[in-house]
Amino acid sequence: MKQGIPSITAEAVTALRAAESLRPENERVCYDPLAREFIGTRFRLLVNSGFLRMVALWVVERLVPGLAGDIIGRVRYIDDYLRECIAAGIDQLVILGAGYDSRAYRFDGLDGKVKVFEVDHPATQKVKMAKVKKIFGSLPGNVAYVPIDFEREKLDRLFESGYEKNLKTCFIWEGVTMYLTPQAVDDTLTFVANNSGKDSCIIFDYLFKSFVDGTSEMEGVQRIEAVRKAYELLDEPLTDEPFTFGIEEGNIGEFLSQKGFWQIEEVTGEYLENAYFRGVGHGRRVLRLCGFVHAAVKAKQ
Ligand SMILES: C[S@@+](CC[C@H](N)C(=O)[O-])C[C@H]1O[C@@H](n2cnc3c(N)ncnc32)[C@H](O)[C@@H]1O
Repeated sequence: MKQGIPSITAEAVTALRAAESLRPENERVCYDPLAREFIGTRFRLLVNSGFLRMVALWVVERLVPGLAGDIIGRVRYIDDYLRECIAAGIDQLVILGAGYDSRAYRFDGLDGKVKVFEVDHPATQKVKMAKVKKIFGSLPGNVAYVPIDFEREKLDRLFESGYEKNLKTCFIWEGVTMYLTPQAVDDTLTFVANNSGKDSCIIFDYLFKSFVDGTSEMEGVQRIEAVRKAYELLDEPLTDEPFTFGIEEGNIGEFLSQKGFWQIEEVTGEYLENAYFRGVGHGRRVLRLCGFVHAAVKAKQ
């Protein structure tokens, strides 16, 4: 990301959550009623008008079939997982690359019980904090904001904000790994594995390596590539958010196990499509280019 420029992808995925949340209750796959408050004027114009929203979603689906389903499906998958973690009991929640994630403000069972840390690139976090203040009048007491550039700084900075390494912690890392270098991904996972209490866990999504390095033979990849190139021309001179990291399909177990995790459970786009996009939402597709995984931190010897 460019210094001083907030993430545009963070705003785009929030706009998709906002649009999904406006669907009737029996049709929507995820519900983030705060998403609308976090987006800026251009996305708000699209989302607030029923007609423009429909056209924009149609265009997104025509350009990259399954992209919106991927983003909405992963939100639901992570929401369901977090709900389970809260029910089982966690002490801390760390949201890595938080963007305009509103889980700290919309989930029951956090306030007064779970300390939340939102970690993000300083440029994006500055905008997020201003929006939180505008929405709620002030910053909530149970949320700490930790500005970190994963490429330049280590997660140790969490300690300055009161993070405690012996507490049971859930880490959420949604829609971020693909924008990082392998070193930054490695440093983050190593920090989580070495600096969290018993039964701590992480949930994240990642791109398949074959897509990032251009060798994927999956149907439709060429089309996605063309759209991505167009996006790069339009957007990356502004924000510089190219895809830089992927994990080989089928390799996540070994990848995470080597880094100190176990109880690794992965699902794919096909799973999300079958689990969430049947019934009334029938017909919506989910990309087959990503993995969605959660894992627990191995007990220390
Ligand atoms: C696609 S957005 C996802 C935001 C949020 N997790 C969500 O799903 O709504 C990518 C996020 O990664 C963050 N990010 C990208 N590169 C980063 C870096 N080098 N250091 C810290 N954060 C970074 C951006 O600021 C942005 O919030």
